[in-house]
Amino acid sequence: MLWIIRFSGFFSAAMVMIVLSPSLQSFPPAEAIRSNMDYHLRSPTSSNSLDKISFRKSPVFRNADECRSSTLGKSGVCDPSLVHVAITLDVEYLRGSIAAVYSIIQHSKCPENVFFHFLVSENGLETLVGSTFPELKFKVYFFNPERVRSLISSSVRQALEQPLNYARNYLADLLEPCVKRVIYLDSDLVLVDDISKLWSTSLGKKTIGAPEYCHANFTKYFTEYFWFDRKFSGVFSGRNPCYFNTGVMVINLSKWRRFGYTRRIERWMDIQKTSPSRIYELGSLPPFLLVFAGQVAPIKHRWNQHGLGGDNVRGSCRDLHQGAVSLLHWSGSGKPWLRLDSKQPCPLDSLWAPYDLYEQST
Ligand SMILES: *[C@@H]1O[C@H](CO)[C@@H](O)[C@H](O)[C@H]1NC(C)=O
Ligand SMILES: *[C@@H]1O[C@H](CO)[C@@H](O)[C@H](O)[C@H]1NC(C)=O
Repeated sequence: MLWIIRFSGFFSAAMVMIVLSPSLQSFPPAEAIRSNMDYHLRSPTSSNSLDKISFRKSPVFRNADECRSSTLGKSGVCDPSLVHVAITLDVEYLRGSIAAVYSIIQHSKCPENVFFHFLVSENGLETLVGSTFPELKFKVYFFNPERVRSLISSSVRQALEQPLNYARNYLADLLEPCVKRVIYLDSDLVLVDDISKLWSTSLGKKTIGAPEYCHANFTKYFTEYFWFDRKFSGVFSGRNPCYFNTGVMVINLSKWRRFGYTRRIERWMDIQKTSPSRIYELGSLPPFLLVFAGQVAPIKHRWNQHGLGGDNVRGSCRDLHQGAVSLLHWSGSGKPWLRLDSKQPCPLDSLWAPYDLYEQST
């Protein structure tokens, strides 16, 4: 049984390699940027309700023999051998989050060493996670939407204003102090590689690591008002700021706590809210760029093949960027589960489908 699970994990990784390899073209940077900007999109109201959602039970995945476990006798979340992953859970994106978790444990050599930190703003999701993933190591944290509500300014789209989009700013406060490093992941992605490789990436002296995109036009993430006033734009002096996607980040939480980055992000949100004119148009991304762009540890691009959600135009499909793939990210407004349900999937949505544990209720 175990062998079959391992094998199927390996097999789907191999399939991805085959499907992705030669002929795919990368799409032009301008288009990539546009899709990144849409990346937080959620539809403003949710018609889903929890009692209508059910998932198949995942098999239990076991550690390979060579997996090191803690020798310090610590247990629970403070065990130093753990890989920590933070993901938000909400009704609308639940299917995506569950698929992400499933993909992670399926491709891990040491799945029992992965600890999940789920951020929620509604009740009832804990039971669902527990019954879908028996024996999963996880903890659920309540993120109070009131914490950011007063800081969120109305953005170009109402969908960008979901408080849970901002939960990633508060990981250092929410998670236990013994958790010194965390991988933050969006809910519209799957891994096709072992997360321990991403986990062991060196951040050097940097607080966060993410794939950077220095060819993207950084200017357009902020308004003319921002660039015109040195009081604001001076923040980038002495830095070489590049766009990065905040949907996949490795974070040194000790350092984040020490330097109070949450407060710095909040300060920019406050400036956006109280300035006579906006300094940016998007939601939770620009404050991250303001604080970290140009000071990010560069992670290999294979860890965030983003933009697969197409852009706002219905039915527009994307190819992958060139190069190897360890993580597929459906950023953009099109989500694979919705397109599969509507029987109008994009070709690459078939790579998401094997991780879908959603069960149509009868
Ligand atoms: C976090 O940064 C501190 C200070 O630079 C460093 O000593 C520590 O090893 C880093 N921790 C992790 C988990 O990366
Ligand atoms: C970058 O974007 C800004 C604002 O949209 C524009 O004025 C500028 O010409 C662009 N630069 C390049 C190199 O495309």
